[in-house]
Amino acid sequence: MKDLSPSKDSLDAIETASRDELAALQLDRMRWSLSHAYENVPHYQQAFDNRGVHPSDLKALSDLAKFPFTVKEDLRQNYPFGLFAVPREQVVRVHASSGTTGKPTVVGYTQKDIDTWADLMARSTRAGGGRPGDIVHVAYGYGLFTGGLGAHYGAERLGCTVIPMSGGSTARQIQLIQDFKPDVIMVTPSYMLTLADEFDRQGIDTRSTSLRVGLHGAEPWTEVMRQEIEQRFDMHAVDLYGLSEVIGPGVACECVETKDGLHIWEDHFYPEIIDPITGEVLPDGELGELVFTSLSKEAFPIVRYRTRDLTRLLPGTARTMRRMEKITGRSDDMMIIRGVNVFPSQIEEHILKDKRLSPHYVLELSKEGHLDALSVVTEPRPDVSQDERIDAAKLLAHNVKTFCGVSVKVKIAELGGVERSMGKAQRIIDMREGA
Ligand code: DLL
Repeated sequence: MKDLSPSKDSLDAIETASRDELAALQLDRMRWSLSHAYENVPHYQQAFDNRGVHPSDLKALSDLAKFPFTVKEDLRQNYPFGLFAVPREQVVRVHASSGTTGKPTVVGYTQKDIDTWADLMARSTRAGGGRPGDIVHVAYGYGLFTGGLGAHYGAERLGCTVIPMSGGSTARQIQLIQDFKPDVIMVTPSYMLTLADEFDRQGIDTRSTSLRVGLHGAEPWTEVMRQEIEQRFDMHAVDLYGLSEVIGPGVACECVETKDGLHIWEDHFYPEIIDPITGEVLPDGELGELVFTSLSKEAFPIVRYRTRDLTRLLPGTARTMRRMEKITGRSDDMMIIRGVNVFPSQIEEHILKDKRLSPHYVLELSKEGHLDALSVVTEPRPDVSQDERIDAAKLLAHNVKTFCGVSVKVKIAELGGVERSMGKAQRIIDMREGA
């Protein structure tokens, strides 16, 4: 794979500034952001007042811990535009996420917010190995989801030629990759693997494509999945993180030269890690729930938003900003099987390590009497014999029991039997009554 380390002079000055410079900027911006939220959004005014805190109580960054959290339910209760901090006429764009239940959550952007987002997605694309002049194929969905448009504006801002392909139409994706010869692809990791299978099906060598870099995110994925993508496509696979409530993709991104976790663009989003049960702020290095406060957003400032994503904060390496470790999972996706906590990513690791099994899988939760039962449904790779399938299923059940502590049934479906993702993969199918 090509060395894609960026030259230092191509970076934004703040990416290599001192920690002190960064902290000074954060404190200034945090003061502004808390006042902006308090003065313009009744929800924040009430929440701060209930807590007995005022924006002027923020003397140091650590004082942020005195302020109340924001949760997804707060967005729902203020549906659709109740958390906007500017008159609606100044909101140039709205995005929304459907969520699994109830009303969607809605976020808004001023023109300046859109510019900040484009700058940060451009920064992320460059960190991942994209360069001005590259052709960028965007296969994240366009629309209310922030993936497509976020990636699109960022790649344009970096000076790339953008192919706004969106998700789906898998055979067409392959055709355009073959004909337009993109350098960079932006797509969820699970859909990247769906594309890999389609290349195979059409008899095209995945390692022969023009792709040098994939920026993958919007869902949890493991190191072994990275290796799978990198080996199949002979390209760098880099982790890209974000969420609509905070801005969209481009909150944090890995640097291609280190691939050691995602640098958080801390000049715009202030991260904290908390104990998900007590809400207490944990020191850097400890595993907990990631919380974000926006530092510059105008239309939709967000204060201490609980992401439900589990990770830890680590010191900066390729950049000044702190890194977050690859996300282990969301607290929502944690399954408790007969008292044992398990995340889909832990099981994924064992599926992908076995070269007889395909990387496509779902986890089915069901009831056996009064007890919860978990089945792993995956597929064999092409040309795997019946005996090998049986062996692979036994080994997978054994490894999940040994390393994750839960007994699972393993079902090996026929080739193509596991539904393919076109965007965010749905890993857990809950078949328990009432679910
Ligand atoms: O998924 C934004 C995005 C688009 C990020 C494209 C990266 C690429 P939401 O739909 O609001 O926004 O979902 C946000 O997705 O809280 C995480 O649980 C998960 N997620 C996003 N990126 C990653 C990642 C977009 N790199 C939610 N690793 C977040 C693990 C991720 N999970």
